[in-house]
Amino acid sequence: MNVVTTVIKSRHSVRKFKPDPVDERVISDAVECAALAPTARNTQPWLFGVIRDKQTLEKIAGLAENGKFIADCAVCFAIFGEKKETYYLEDCCAATENLIIALQAYGVSSCWVAGDKKPYAEAVRTLLNAPEKYTLVSLVAAGAPSEISLASKKDQKKTLFFEKYDES
Ligand SMILES: Cc1cc2nc3c(=O)[nH]c(=O)nc-3n(C[C@H](O)[C@H](O)[C@H](O)COP(=O)(O)O)c2cc1C
Repeated sequence: MNVVTTVIKSRHSVRKFKPDPVDERVISDAVECAALAPTARNTQPWLFGVIRDKQTLEKIAGLAENGKFIADCAVCFAIFGEKKETYYLEDCCAATENLIIALQAYGVSSCWVAGDKKPYAEAVRTLLNAPEKYTLVSLVAAGAPSEISLASKKDQKKTLFFEKYDES
């Protein structure tokens, strides 16, 4: 255990937030961490949106069927990927996770909300005026937590093998 693994282990999805704003320096450091994620051929095929305007948050929430709580978060990040890059999805998911862990390190909770493959991806892109060459990969609702809920996790014995998988 070290400070980084402790932060990773402390993370869980939070969908209820206090109205307090998230400090600008935290936002900018977390986005910097997102943009340091590894990418295939170092293409960095992304565009990050930071949304705090209440009306825009409500509009995004109205589009994302499983992200209604975005309306009441302090800040929502929108991660867009450049469609022409073969690995934009993997790259943007790596950036999304970096962002979430960086926020967590500052005590800012969050929840990943699906963007890729969702029918509202194009509507969110249009709403935020992101250029057409990008597509929405993920939304991250964030803020100070007002409720804690822990998801149960699979037993690692069933999801891990060393050297070669052994069914017995
Ligand atoms: C690709 C992806 C899409 C997700 N989409 C949603 C979503 O649309 N709405 C939501 O409430 N949670 C969403 N989540 C959060 C998961 O529900 C959550 O990570 C999972 O239940 C495990 O809980 P934990 O994050 O607390 O470990 C998503 C997570 C991932 C990785």
